This record gives sequence, structure tokens and C-alpha cells, in this order.
Amino acid sequence: MRSPWWAGLDLRALRHVRGVLRRRGLELTLVERRPAETAAFAPLSAEDAVGAGLAVIAPELSAPELALVELMLREAVLDVAAALADRRPPPPQDGRRTSYRGIFGAAPAMQELYDLLERIAPSESTVLIQGENGTGKELVARAIHQASPRRDRKFIITNCSAFNDNLLDSELFGHRRGAFTGAVADKPGLFEVADNGTFFLDEIGDMSPALQVKVLRVLQEGTFTRVGDTETRKVDVRIIAATNRDLTGMVASGQFREDLFYRIHVLHVDLPPLRERRDDIPLLIEQFLARHRRSRQKRLAPACAAQMLAYPWPGNVRELENEVERLVVLAGDAPIISIELLSPRIRGWTPAEEPEPEPDTGSLPAAVEALERRMIGAAMRRHNFNKTRAAEDLKVSRRNLIRLVQKYQLEK
Ligand SMILES: Nc1ncnc2c1ncn2[C@@H]1O[C@H](COP(=O)(O)OP(=O)(O)OP(=O)(O)O)[C@@H](O)[C@H]1O
Ligand SMILES: [Mg+2]
Repeated sequence: MRSPWWAGLDLRALRHVRGVLRRRGLELTLVERRPAETAAFAPLSAEDAVGAGLAVIAPELSAPELALVELMLREAVLDVAAALADRRPPPPQDGRRTSYRGIFGAAPAMQELYDLLERIAPSESTVLIQGENGTGKELVARAIHQASPRRDRKFIITNCSAFNDNLLDSELFGHRRGAFTGAVADKPGLFEVADNGTFFLDEIGDMSPALQVKVLRVLQEGTFTRVGDTETRKVDVRIIAATNRDLTGMVASGQFREDLFYRIHVLHVDLPPLRERRDDIPLLIEQFLARHRRSRQKRLAPACAAQMLAYPWPGNVRELENEVERLVVLAGDAPIISIELLSPRIRGWTPAEEPEPEPDTGSLPAAVEALERRMIGAAMRRHNFNKTRAAEDLKVSRRNLIRLVQKYQLEK
């Protein structure tokens, strides 16, 4: 068998080609099919030589240079294939929903959420929605209203943290002319406006004890009085409350009335933070790319997508949506969004190093193992789980590194 033309080449030449790549501004791209134009290409699976793979579109390179680039790609492609297998969300199984009334997600926690929402929407009971900032509390409140028999009536929202106590009182319950300076006429409150509909009390944890009493009375008797008035009025509203605060703790410390807590807590919806349903990130990105595009659909470059998958999203879905909207604007006419466009805090984010282990005074082998685990873990993360590069960095053979990665379970 004739040996390939590169067999006698000094492999250090590969470094030179990396330089060529950089100088010529060539870009490594993950593609769905082998490109028709001149390209170095390495397929993701040996069975499918024209399917998905890594490509460097390179019309300027000579044939031998192209072949050399292709050779370099081969090892990279194995790492990419492994990383993709890990990251790709499992295909939805039969009956698994990817969205419900504008709420997107296919994670198990979201399936439970959709089932729960379907069961609670038809009821008249009060619902308490809890979740971190940006997890979709308002979206869920709207979904409940829209799936309920009150869907054709009003859906009124008040953010309890946006007003001082007196203003919130008058906003919710209305006032009588002359009740306070500026009250020039009788004014109905939002509870009256919401009659027969649904009232969404957002940030209920920020409501003062005095107003908590008034809301409790609406819940128990359906009655209230306007500020400065004595007439008792009746309303029929369904209340949905939301908070990102720990109401149980607030009850324990006396900041939130226990009787109101139990009254609003009849049905309880807990929204998972995005970092606990990372498999939903690609789905949400697709959704937001479609929502914010102006013309042609864009997609994220693989490195950009990988960084978004790794980032912890403290601002949850809202932060993700804002980031995608920003990327779409910054990308302009480009169909592919590169990692350079990511916000600095997302682009520059790296996982925290594992904490220093306590020095083990008893056993040297245990201390050596702890050090190995720490150094290898850090190198793997530094090189985005590329074993070849991590091994180079640690000055051990790739084979040795693979063994240690398995031993310490440091696979991504
Ligand atoms: N599961 C989801 N699918 C699609 N969009 C979502 C989802 N969750 C949240 N969003 C979007 O994220 C943004 C924030 O959602 P929402 O206002 O409902 O969150 P929130 O929990 O009320 O936030 P905050 O606590 O900050 O008030 C909205 O633009 C909403 O459409
Ligand atoms: Mg909200």
C-alpha cells in the first residue's frame, strides 16, 4: 500500500499551518453537510463522509495545504463529536411537549409544569408562583388566566414593589374624593377593574402588613373598602401571586402574615432556574433567534453556542432572551453569530476552579490523587475538554491522561 503523501512530514509543520490559518483568516465551522466549495473537511462519523462535520472553507490554499488542514481536523472532530453527543438535548420522546401557551422548554421539570398548569387553570383557587428573577413567573400567570374560564375577562397586573404603601392601597382598592391631597375625584381601584377576571399580584412579598390584611379580606370574603370610604364593596377575582422571596422564611420572621400565606398558597407553582434545565437552552435560543430576527434566520457559531451552554444564567430566561436579542442586532447581516459578539461577562465566564482540598496529613497516595484530580480537572476545563491539548499542557501522554480522566470521572 502506498503511504499517504504526508507520512514523511515533520508533524511540527502542523503548527505552521495553524499560523497559515490565522494569517489567512480562515474560520473553522461546524457544518451540517460537506460544503460544495473548496474546503478541508472532516466528518463527524466515519460512516457518513458527506454529512455533518468540521470544515475550513479555504479557496486560497494549495491542495497539499488543504490536505494538511484536513489531517489536523481529524482529531479535533472526534472531540467535537463527543462534546456534541453530550450537549445535544435528547430528542423529545413521544408525548413530550416543547412548549405550552408561549412557555418554552422540554425538560422533565417543564413537563411537570405543563401538567400542573393544565390541572390548576380551570379551578378558582389562588395560585402562588415562586421562582428566581426571569424564570417566567408572569408568563406562567398569563398562561393560567388564558387556560381558565375567565380567559375572556380582564387580566390585571400590579407590581407590589413599585409603589409606596399609600399609593398601592389606592391603586388596588381605589379612593374616595378628598381621602388625601390630590384625591380630586372618586376612583375605583384595580380590584374593581378586574372584577370577574384574574388579578396578578407580582412581588407580593414586598407588600406591607396593613395591605396584607386588606388582600386577605378580599380572598376570604370578596370584600374591601376604598381608601377614605366606609362603603363595603364586593368583587369576584381570582388571585395569582408571585414572588422571588422566601415567603416561608418571611412568615417565620414575622414579615409576612401566616394566614395570608396559607390563603395564597392553596396551589403552588415552583419554576426551575435555567441552570437546572440546561438542555432547554438550545431550544430557547432557537425560539429567541426566530423572535428577534428581522430578515433571514441566523444561527450561532459552535463556539458561541458552547459558551452559552456553559454560562450559569443568573438572570435566567430573561437574561438569555436579552442576550440573543443583542446578538441578533450586533450580527447585522451576518448569518452566523460569532463568539466575539457575546457580552463580555458571558464570553469571559469560566467555571470556578475546584476549592483547595484540605492537606491530607496521613496518606501521601491520597494527597497525590487529590492533586492529580485538581490539576487534570483544571486543565480539562481550560482546554474545553480537549484531551489532546490538556495532555500537552500537563506534559503527560494522551493515553495516560485518558486513563486518569476516567479514574477521576472528569469527563464533561
Ligand atoms: N419558559 C420560557 N419560554 C419562553 N420565554 C420565557 C420563558 N420564561 C421566561 N421567558 C421570557 O423571559 C422574560 C422574563 O419572563 P417573566 O417576566 O415572566 O419572568 P419573571 O419570573 O416574572 O421575572 P421577574 O422575577 O424578574 O419579574 C420574558 O420576556 C418572557 O417572555
Ligand atoms: Mg415578573
